[in-house]
Amino acid sequence: MAVAELSPSFTKTHLHSSQLSSLSTRLANFRRCAFRPLPRARNSLTISCSVAPNQVQAPVAVQNEGPKTKTECFGVFCLTYDLKAEEETKTWKKLINIAVSGAAGMISNHLLFKLASGEVFGPDQPIALKLLGSERSFQALEGVAMELEDSLFPLLREVSISIDPYEVFQDVEWALLIGAKPRGPGMERAGLLDINGQIFAEQGKALNAVASRNVKVIVVGNPCNTNALICLKNAPNIPAKNFHALTRLDENRAKCQLALKAGVFYDKVSNMTIWGNHSTTQVPDFLNARINGFPVKEVIRDQKWLEEEFTEKVQKRGGVLIKKWGRSSAASTSVSIVDAIRSLITPTPEGDWFSSGVYTTGNPYGIAEDIVFSMPCRSKGDGDYEFVKDVVFDDYLLERITRTEAELLAEKRCVAHLIGEGIAFCDLPEDTMLPGEM
Ligand code: LMR
Repeated sequence: MAVAELSPSFTKTHLHSSQLSSLSTRLANFRRCAFRPLPRARNSLTISCSVAPNQVQAPVAVQNEGPKTKTECFGVFCLTYDLKAEEETKTWKKLINIAVSGAAGMISNHLLFKLASGEVFGPDQPIALKLLGSERSFQALEGVAMELEDSLFPLLREVSISIDPYEVFQDVEWALLIGAKPRGPGMERAGLLDINGQIFAEQGKALNAVASRNVKVIVVGNPCNTNALICLKNAPNIPAKNFHALTRLDENRAKCQLALKAGVFYDKVSNMTIWGNHSTTQVPDFLNARINGFPVKEVIRDQKWLEEEFTEKVQKRGGVLIKKWGRSSAASTSVSIVDAIRSLITPTPEGDWFSSGVYTTGNPYGIAEDIVFSMPCRSKGDGDYEFVKDVVFDDYLLERITRTEAELLAEKRCVAHLIGEGIAFCDLPEDTMLPGEM
């Protein structure tokens, strides 16, 4: 059964009872329409309809009547349709719900079209995109939905927009949390941690209340490790293992730099771990990485370059890019989100691994428990992952890992009030920075 969703989900929507009755009269032409007010947002409603194959009807668009509302139903997504009625869709999988926050931003503007095209979840996976924005970005969000509409993606079956995470996260299997406030002029890092922390605490609560129990959450909004920690702590009914902080962009950057130095194409670089925080203390691990299957140190015999230039280049790549572009990386970030998802839904190639910021409790490396730390992972392709056991350490690596670990523990103390651990005490090391803050 296919479902087209009319989703007037903006929380400021005020549908008066006259409008509701006029809406329901028009919708009476639909067969088997479910009209359900959303449980939490009292002023909003979602209408889901479906028709049997022989009952496909002409589109019914909701006309504005009375006072202008923020209610949005996006043309093609307002139609009724039936996946089973169409020959090509009979082999499709069951529709999955994907939430994207910061949906009107630059990263999402790249990502959403990749998701909708089938490039991420495959050509037989229909999807529903549930877009979370802010009141300020609501018009832009409508623009994004219009562009999705105009792209005629066959696999994109539903699009809804809202500023309420409790609506957006309902039954989602994936939550890609991109939206976060950038650090403004004069803002202390502790202030940034607090402001963004509040957002991720709320989103964690919303996920806990309404998302699929199996939801996989990828936190992109910075500072992503600590935001992911806050999010998972506020979602106690979802396994902590399901939360990731995006460090795949750092892994990709590291692979590119090693490939450049070795004079090989970047597909020859494997086993690349980023340890720790997505910040300038992150540790791109050239000790365990390989080029053409050989240890990096056997291919690049320049220890000074590896320890100094390479490491710093990866750590500060985001900042250099901001200087060139005048804004944060967006396209490459969206590519790395795709890579991160694919790494969880396809089996990791034999002998290789990928990096992700994950919950440390139970890790085999001796990293402090109860933080979110980037580590080497492998997946069977079922959405889950396991830690890689066969990595080696030397003094250089251990010293760097200890530093990034200390930074994350300090960030955790700054957000104690958001993770149920009492009063926050912020003693961040002075040089602690996001890759973009230089
Ligand atoms: C990046 O690594 O490019 C971003 O996280 C930088 C930033 O601070 O936005």
